[in-house]
Amino acid sequence: MAAEPVILDCDPGVDDAVALLLALAVPEAIELLAVTTVAGNVPLALTARNARIVRTLAGREDVPVFAGAERPLVRAPTFEAEHGPSAFHGETGLGTLPLTAPKGDLADGFAPDAIVKLAMARPAGTVTLVAVGPLTNVALALAAEPLLAEHLKRIVIMGGARSAGGNITASAEFNIYADPEAAQAVFTSGAPIVAHGLDVTHAVRATPERIARIAAIPTARAQAAAELLRFSHGVALSIGNPSAPLHDPCPIAWLLAPDLFTTRPARVAVECESELTRGHTAVEFRVDPATAPVAWVTGADADAVFALLEDRLARA
Ligand code: RIB
Ligand code: CA
Repeated sequence: MAAEPVILDCDPGVDDAVALLLALAVPEAIELLAVTTVAGNVPLALTARNARIVRTLAGREDVPVFAGAERPLVRAPTFEAEHGPSAFHGETGLGTLPLTAPKGDLADGFAPDAIVKLAMARPAGTVTLVAVGPLTNVALALAAEPLLAEHLKRIVIMGGARSAGGNITASAEFNIYADPEAAQAVFTSGAPIVAHGLDVTHAVRATPERIARIAAIPTARAQAAAELLRFSHGVALSIGNPSAPLHDPCPIAWLLAPDLFTTRPARVAVECESELTRGHTAVEFRVDPATAPVAWVTGADADAVFALLEDRLARA
């Protein structure tokens, strides 16, 4: 089967970096047209640098990296707020991963423009846009090209929560909280959406046993992933949790093995007015499955997801 053309928008970010390592390890399954970066976990200068560091580590200088939005559509960047998400990703954004200088530079151009240009250059219904950070770049691309929403095969995101509450506030997940206006625009764009919220990522956890199995794999990408996951595990323990969820690799694993996940048709609306519930995703399952705009991911076979991750990271 031909490789799936994919654009990956991210804010590396420790778990974004693991998702990148996975996506860059499977050229036979994912034709990565570009990596686009957005401010989120850490400022844009760091996310744009970190994506290139991971690209070099994965030996994939062939994949262009573009820098995008340095702030949300209308809000102040969250890393400037009291939430200080660098506590979750470290001051570099890549935890304790030793930083090696990236080989390649950024590609010229603004990430939302690159998303439009690359997607519209391929036949309708063929390009998948994966977004695992705040949805600012995606919303800007959809606004720049009104035909993009119907031209894309789908948008696969990590973001939101239904039964799992929130992780940046009691009622909101970070990616949606960081830019709720962008998220609302994406969920109502008309593009087919697959949404991996906390409901599924909290069930796919990087336990010490799973980290140890990755750490035993003698490849550079596996060693990097193990270091990234060890850092996240330390953060999880420091806030009273037994392990860290594997957020951003879930959409990539879903592309590779959708049968490992369960979904329900839904409609999603994002709270943009109330400061108390800013970024809350109202996930409505009472929809017509034939016309529902969102496939909400409800669960996963976590052991099989990690087995897939281990297998792909073991490639030389
Ligand atoms: O809530 C999890 C999401 O927020 C992940 O994308 C992680 O990288 C952080 O950005
Ligand atoms: Ca992310």
